Amino acid sequence: MKIAARIADLPTYVFAALGKRIAELQAQGVDVIRLDIGSPDLAPPDAVIERMVEETRRPDRHGYAGFYGIPPFRQAVADFYRRRFDVALDPEREVLALIGSKEGIQHLPTAFADPGSVVLVPDPGYPTYRNPAILVGAELYRMPLLRERGFLPDLRAIPEAVARRARILWLNYPNNPTSAIAPIEFLEEAVDFARHYDLLIAYDNPYSEIVWEGGPAPSILQVPGAREVAVEFNSLSKMANMAGWRVGMVVGNAEAIAALARVKTNADSGIFKPIQYAAAVALALPAEWHAERNAIYAERRRVVTRALDRMNLWYAPYGATLYVWAEIPPHFASSADFTSRLLEETGVSLSPGSAFGPHGEGYVRISLVKPAQRLEEAMERWERWMIGDSLGIEVK
Ligand SMILES: Cc1ncc(COP(=O)(O)O)c(C=O)c1O
Repeated sequence: MKIAARIADLPTYVFAALGKRIAELQAQGVDVIRLDIGSPDLAPPDAVIERMVEETRRPDRHGYAGFYGIPPFRQAVADFYRRRFDVALDPEREVLALIGSKEGIQHLPTAFADPGSVVLVPDPGYPTYRNPAILVGAELYRMPLLRERGFLPDLRAIPEAVARRARILWLNYPNNPTSAIAPIEFLEEAVDFARHYDLLIAYDNPYSEIVWEGGPAPSILQVPGAREVAVEFNSLSKMANMAGWRVGMVVGNAEAIAALARVKTNADSGIFKPIQYAAAVALALPAEWHAERNAIYAERRRVVTRALDRMNLWYAPYGATLYVWAEIPPHFASSADFTSRLLEETGVSLSPGSAFGPHGEGYVRISLVKPAQRLEEAMERWERWMIGDSLGIEVK
């Protein structure tokens, strides 16, 4: 058997590799607190689950669901965009269902990036913007997201020769991993840039509903003319605590959506219909539901930031997403050195900033996906470890 050369340098997805080590530690009896991956611990609303059960009982819901998303799901997406962002979408041409947004994100370069073309990615940024672009032979240009620029890329710093070869500009706000929110003015600048260089903006917005300070988060489709140059990804994973259900969507430019659909129709055969009906219920959740859920994240964030304050560590000052982006303590060789020692010696698992790109070095991402009490325990283990005090804490 021969493995293809194109995957020789392809890293294993960061959380897949980490998951293996965690499983080994757990098998040895370590009580691991996983604050690395962004998988919500809270349940979807009852109405969503009830709809799923109801639809699953129907005998006519078990065949192939079709390729583009069932009409009630696509209509629910259009209704959500109208209600939430005042953006009108044609559910036939401007909405496509995805098996979680990661699936569409990973297929986009196949539809848009030729070998030798460039894909512009934020650094630090969600890893799936990078590796699928490399697999199709495109070059990456990493746009640094710097603390002093509010974690917004400097589009004017992209060299002209690079911008001319670029096919996709990835942007993601509210941002993973930094939690930064982009003002609409930045999105306007991005739309001008995309028009000028004739490229596609892929705006990734899965945290659009998870903002409790400085919001609400905009959609790029609110910018006049954005529909000519942009698609937007969104997802039920974080919005309605449905990460394991695998359902999301891409909306916006009809031509781009048709190109992505051409790739997809060759790769998959749609999403289980009951999941799509239940997702339609989730898309209609009232603002109060999101506000209540966000209050839980806000409280969890306070638990984490209070501990970071005590340890005198800087963190990004945004009330959004499931993440706290914090500086690593001094005297560690790298963020991976810090997170692996923290995991091995205290059982607390965080994501090293370097997993999100070279500009993530020096930081860690702490996911707010455990109850406040458990977060309290994680931060306490970290603090005690830092001061070299092992008082009664069982770590191995
Ligand atoms: C920025 C970003 N985009 C996309 C995804 C993928 O989400 P899903 O495939 O569950 O919709 C995630 C998940 O963590 C994410 O953080």
